[in-house]
Amino acid sequence: MATLSTPPAEQAGADPRNALLAGKLIHRKILIRLFLGWSILSLVVGGIVLFLEINRVEARVHQLALKESASFSGESAHNLDSIDRNAFEHLTELARQLVEQHFLVVELYDRSQQLKLEAVRDGEEFSEQTIGQYRHRFPKEQEFSHQLHFVDGELLLVVLVPLKDAQNALTGYFEGIYQVDRETLDGIEQEVFRTLAFVTLGISLTTLLMYPIMLNLNRWLIGLSNTLLKGNLELMNVLGHAIAERDSDTNSHNYRVTYYALRLGEALGLPPEKLRDLIAGAFLHDVGKIGIRDPILLKPGELTPEEFQVMQTHVLLGMNILNRSSWLRRARDVVEFHHEKYDGSGYVRGLKGQEIPLNARLFAIVDVFDALTSQRPYKEPLAVDEAIGLLEKGSGSHFDPRLTTVFIKLAPRLHEEVSRLNERRLETMLQQIIARYFLASA
Ligand code: C2E
Ligand code: SIN
Ligand code: SIN
Ligand code: FE
Repeated sequence: MATLSTPPAEQAGADPRNALLAGKLIHRKILIRLFLGWSILSLVVGGIVLFLEINRVEARVHQLALKESASFSGESAHNLDSIDRNAFEHLTELARQLVEQHFLVVELYDRSQQLKLEAVRDGEEFSEQTIGQYRHRFPKEQEFSHQLHFVDGELLLVVLVPLKDAQNALTGYFEGIYQVDRETLDGIEQEVFRTLAFVTLGISLTTLLMYPIMLNLNRWLIGLSNTLLKGNLELMNVLGHAIAERDSDTNSHNYRVTYYALRLGEALGLPPEKLRDLIAGAFLHDVGKIGIRDPILLKPGELTPEEFQVMQTHVLLGMNILNRSSWLRRARDVVEFHHEKYDGSGYVRGLKGQEIPLNARLFAIVDVFDALTSQRPYKEPLAVDEAIGLLEKGSGSHFDPRLTTVFIKLAPRLHEEVSRLNERRLETMLQQIIARYFLASA
């Protein structure tokens, strides 16, 4: 009789290879996410800072343009529609002073938006032409307009200010092209870079703080899911053990058929999810025998047809047990169909060929092989060669011939491996294999 001293999930948690692999993956995932976060944050914050800096410069130029254009409005305003020679010369002089200082170009327009007077800084005729296409977007009265332009690496601001006399009546327009100087440009650049440096530093510090927290949270989550998994694997063991209490050989039978089925499934190249279902199915395939009365289950001789009918109900009894757990339900293909035969003569449903789920077709072969090579209350064990002979005989009628061919090649070596181990060692080995398969998915 089997005694389970080591719950399988404890071994699952202790498997260092999987833990290491999961750890590396998590590190990489966290680093990639942090880098993405950094990139996005840098773009957004850098963009905002650039925008704010340029707004700041615009506002400054705005103020300057208002101040400088003031010399053309108010008390000193001339109606630009009808301007005398003296006034023209005076205004030209004022405009020339402005282009010596901040502006590249200063122009005055009358109320009907006709150019009256222009001053251009020496050597800046080109800028004036280039920027020309953007000008003359005259604002409505009272409104001030400015537009920012990058021309040949220079930041230029075109400002347009309506001019008013002392009575606040429109007298014309002032338009200027203001060149943002190198120093200011460098200032903007520096401000953006400084901000990006702060963002980087901030994120690096946050990362340093967050990284261990994330790792711990993740470890905690893995721990939780392992606890859950451990519970389910324990449930599987408990059920296997419960039937072993009634039927002395079943527990090692369960371990043996699970081992055979897994090796056959691997040889067939089944995906891990199918193999996990196969493991659970193999381990629980006869769980319904819990519900079979001792006089039948433990009968030393051949069963009568009536007794065999009762015995066959172990399939449905098993399904009833599985249906109470969503996790155990993964075993259903094997439990429900492990007594179907390839030619359709099996029970419970009489399915044929490919209608029988692959895991059940596969399992039927290893179940019979182990039943044949084992002691049963009703029979003595057969030698491996004899058992293989019976499998060959059943190939195509009882068993899927393709799968039988593969298993027959493996059978002698697998049987050898299993015979060398006592029940305790077999159990330990199986639990390690089970843990590895189930932990890999977590
Ligand atoms: P089990 O002992 O695990 O056998 C599983 C399957 O292996 C059987 O399914 C059958 O297909 C095959 N098998 C087992 N022993 C032999 C054998 O000596 N010769 C051949 N050719 N095949 C064998 P099956 O027949 O549907 O039986 C299901 C379960 O019913 C068996 O599980 C066993 O627990 C029970 N059972 C079947 N026949 C007898 C019997 O004559 N006496 C008793 N006491 N129980 C039996
Ligand atoms: C089994 O098929 O699970 C074991 C059969 C038995 O020992 O009666
Ligand atoms: C397979 O072996 O991958 C599927 C073929 C089958 O259902 O037998
Ligand atoms: Fe069975």
